[in-house]
Amino acid sequence: MTDSRGTLAGRRIVVGVAGSIAAYKAVALVRLLGERGAVVDVAMTPSATQFVGPLTFESLTHRPVVDDVLELDADQQIAHIELAEAADAVVIAPATANLLAVLAAGLVQDAVSAVACASRAPVIVAPAMDAGMWTHPATQRNAETLRGYGYRIVEPEVGSLASGLTGVGRLAEPPTIVDAVERLFARAGDLDGVRVVVSAGGTREPIDPVRFIGNRSSGKMGVAIAEAARDRGASVTLVAGVMSVTQPRGVEVVDATTASTMREAVLRHAPGADILVMAAAVSDFAPQRASGSKIKRDGSSLAITLVPNPDIIAEVGEMPEEVRPFLIGFAAESDDLEANAAAKLRDKGLDLIVGNVVGGPFDAIGSDENKVTVFGAEGALTDWPMLPKRQVAERLWDLIADRWRAARPAEPSEGQARRSRRR
Ligand code: C5P
Repeated sequence: MTDSRGTLAGRRIVVGVAGSIAAYKAVALVRLLGERGAVVDVAMTPSATQFVGPLTFESLTHRPVVDDVLELDADQQIAHIELAEAADAVVIAPATANLLAVLAAGLVQDAVSAVACASRAPVIVAPAMDAGMWTHPATQRNAETLRGYGYRIVEPEVGSLASGLTGVGRLAEPPTIVDAVERLFARAGDLDGVRVVVSAGGTREPIDPVRFIGNRSSGKMGVAIAEAARDRGASVTLVAGVMSVTQPRGVEVVDATTASTMREAVLRHAPGADILVMAAAVSDFAPQRASGSKIKRDGSSLAITLVPNPDIIAEVGEMPEEVRPFLIGFAAESDDLEANAAAKLRDKGLDLIVGNVVGGPFDAIGSDENKVTVFGAEGALTDWPMLPKRQVAERLWDLIADRWRAARPAEPSEGQARRSRRR
């Protein structure tokens, strides 16, 4: 039965199945996707075929399963390349620890890794494995690498595992995976053509040619925000401060490692942009004078006078309405988050501010996860748990896109546009 109104109707989805006992759940997944109107092709690793026969999937999809990288289809085309090119999404469920490593390394070892590597479509990965394998640093690093490629990971669930033990590692239930696929299509393209500027990372204010005043910002939150906007179709400029993560692909990167170069870059790119997200940790102070030569130690103490840096986002907040983008700032506070965030929102002329607590038992700086609260003029707008930064970024964009659209002057109707053209 197909639901022609659903977001999956007519979508080409490749389900990649790896060799885990959870492969049987891929059968339910394929059936659910088909029921929602998707056209499903199945690719299998050789070991997956030991758990579930290709015929099971072929009976459900009425399409041939690809389980061999050397396979040619009826038109003598390479089958996995055909699938990769036609796919609107690739969903790998279950993904084993081994397959995560293969995908992270960019290796092509079987039909599933071949489709994932060759496709430009979004990839969703649902891991399933023993708890020890999932929590192993190598697996976690591979999952993080995949997130960096823009893959969505549907986290494994806690429950009894094939080993007889209980722990985290069970494949997410098929409806949860279908949900992730639907959300992908619901959101894909919701920022098509929107011009976004994001700042990320920290700044370094020089004291002399080798020393600086800096901060611990990694750039992870800002980069996740830039990548999520890119994946939703925005054209993104990333003003990159000092970051410990690699610069993302598919966005324009402008390097700016001091507050003053960051100010120049933001003031150059912000006017005319639709949305500016200032996630960078800009130094509030800089040495009044940077020494041209390395300061020598002579036994006496050294006093450095710090002067305040210009507040970049506040300057953008004062731009005339026609060029001022929708403004989102960040507030990292060690205490009294709500009051401090509210004051910053008001004083800097922001539309939204993302508050997070720093310096406590959990420190967002440099971490892969973050717990944030978003504030608008009316107060706190969210109550989100601790989430991986990419998921924080996705939720932020859901909120920002809605608010930005609501704040925009209404688009002229067809009739209004025609009348104003005639005038
Ligand atoms: O005042 P505070 O530094 O806490 O403000 C944080 C927000 O202001 C962040 O969005 C940060 O990027 C921005 N900021 C700025 N220019 C500065 C200092 C902070 O744009 N000089």
